[in-house]
Amino acid sequence: MSKDKEKRRIEQLRELLHHHNHLYYVLAQPEISDFEYDQLLKELIELEEKNPDFTDANSPSQRVGNDINKEFEQVKHKYPMLSLGNTYSKEEVTDFEARIKKALPNENIEFICELKYDGVAIGLTYKNGILTQAVTRGDGVQGDDVTSNVKTIKSIPLKLNKTSVPDEFEIRGEILFPHDGFLKLNKEREQNGDPLFANPRNAAAGTLKIQKSSIVAKRPLDCFLYFILGENLPHHSHYENLREAKNWGFKVPEHIKKCKNIDEIFEFINYWDTERKNLPFDIDGVVIKVNSYKQQRDLGFTAKSPRWAIAYKFQAEQAKTKLLSIDYQVGRTGAITPVANLEPVLLAGTTVKRASLHNSDQINMLDVRINDYVFVEKGGEIIPKIVGVDKDLRTPESKAVEYIKKCPECGTELVRVEGEAKHYCPNETGCPPQIKGRIEHFISRRAMNIGAAEATVEALVDKKLIQDVGDLYFLTKEDVLTLERFAEKSANNLIKSIEDSKNVPFPRVLYALGIRYVGETVAKTIAAEMKSIEDIKNASVEQLTDIHEIGERIAESIVNYFNNDKNLKIIDKLKISGINLEITEDEEVAAENKLNGQTFVISGTFEKHSRDELKELIVKFGGKNTGSISSKTNYLLAGENIGPSKLEKVKKLNIPMITEDEFIQMIEG
Ligand code: IVH
Repeated sequence: MSKDKEKRRIEQLRELLHHHNHLYYVLAQPEISDFEYDQLLKELIELEEKNPDFTDANSPSQRVGNDINKEFEQVKHKYPMLSLGNTYSKEEVTDFEARIKKALPNENIEFICELKYDGVAIGLTYKNGILTQAVTRGDGVQGDDVTSNVKTIKSIPLKLNKTSVPDEFEIRGEILFPHDGFLKLNKEREQNGDPLFANPRNAAAGTLKIQKSSIVAKRPLDCFLYFILGENLPHHSHYENLREAKNWGFKVPEHIKKCKNIDEIFEFINYWDTERKNLPFDIDGVVIKVNSYKQQRDLGFTAKSPRWAIAYKFQAEQAKTKLLSIDYQVGRTGAITPVANLEPVLLAGTTVKRASLHNSDQINMLDVRINDYVFVEKGGEIIPKIVGVDKDLRTPESKAVEYIKKCPECGTELVRVEGEAKHYCPNETGCPPQIKGRIEHFISRRAMNIGAAEATVEALVDKKLIQDVGDLYFLTKEDVLTLERFAEKSANNLIKSIEDSKNVPFPRVLYALGIRYVGETVAKTIAAEMKSIEDIKNASVEQLTDIHEIGERIAESIVNYFNNDKNLKIIDKLKISGINLEITEDEEVAAENKLNGQTFVISGTFEKHSRDELKELIVKFGGKNTGSISSKTNYLLAGENIGPSKLEKVKKLNIPMITEDEFIQMIEG
């Protein structure tokens, strides 16, 4: 690679890694496997080492990731929360051991092997035997204070057993979501129409970020603690202190081994590489640590991680099998996903028959053909994916994939919007999975909140009892009783729930219609401005884009929606059944009198409300919420830890800052 090319690749890798970091740590929705991530990072580190003139303090290679969530108070770690050097190669483990032996010649070295738990790192502070604070890793320097959530975890002691514990110390570990609880949670989420967690780690991360600890308490989180920090620890070595911590009441690693040499280390690694599938929680490798604190001190740290420990990561399990055919699934939004049918093969404890191929670009990139032998991997996703083709095994029998042109459900010609990876079926109102998807969205909790399971919607549509959301309001108890598993009481409940939804306020009804790009906030903004479905129906693109925050893409989507006769018929049915299709007088008074078209920018963290709640309040009371400060901003709603650039800007533009309490005064007073 030429110097120029290397620099371009460095920039590209930094962008990619920033993006995947955010997906992983902030959104808990990774799109690539840990292995793929680590490969990219490794490539970046190597290129940066070759090009020292091109360093950047903000490069992803300089950080340990970031899971800072603005909703929680941020706390500085007393001891920085470092991560470990990672490797997938056994040679590097051998090098690690050799390096240590060389640095500490003639010393007797004990290595401690532990499982590398695949969860969320946490630091717990205890003062006088009482849990006082629990903080996530964050960026390694400061993290989120999630103490009230962590206190709900049953295996974490709030008070320690013995009086002989150090006055103050920190213990670090990993919060996990055990397999059985994870499967149960996802099943419940599926029934409620909530998005599924891709894996137990995401479920643990997502749960810790919940604002209400009462919900956290209902989830079966668990925690292993594997690292103690403090001034007056009882022993001078890691293993012995962990054993002591067990007596104090902590759950410490139960699969742990003291090793004298590299052979014993590999024995532990090899054993757990196969045995991990029998554990009730996920691990993604083995951690090897030097036991003695003195030796740890002598070995010291690099900028990012200790020299006295290393993490060996297991490869995601792969299997090779034959690709028999490809099915095309039509999602609830009309998106097409190609799914491979495979010759059944055993992978990580389960038999795999199907795997995702994502989209047509992916098929082209992998150059997958029917009858090829393909590699299947279980990554972060729920269903396995095809990650490569064994081209040596390709025979003349292999057939190129012809991507479909028409929707397999309704025969409509597919479209592909520029910039989007997936093909779509545009037949929103006539394609069966899309019909079901729109009804499911309509009844979901944040929309009309009608209590019906996905299977019920499916059965109602299949039996032709309903074709669109308007039909729901003409269902009778007798209709419902024709469905399997429905009896008098459950049928009454469903009818009552439909009846109750007639009280749902207009902005939520507008959101429930499922107009593309009209999410909750957009629906509230438009409802506050336009007041009724009639006005929205008659509005032009220009009138809609006149509304603050409404751009052309949204406006066009709304106009298109009301240009479709099928949608107009749905609105007519909703009108007849008495759904709220305009802002009621109360809502209007509130909207007009309180924040009266004022524009707010929210910044920092708040005590009493989440940022989303504050946004909702602003819109509810007729105000506008924007992301950046300009001369049009009326107020900066300011919490803790506001960024310096925002402060500077409000000062320059002379924009008043108000506190959370002052804001509440404005709407309640
Ligand atoms: S020791 C100074 N032990 O894996 C390093 N970490 O990249 C202290 N992890 O940051 C960490 N199991 O989040 C340690 N038995 C174990 C672990 C473990 C999982 C996590 C932890 C750490 C990361 C390493």
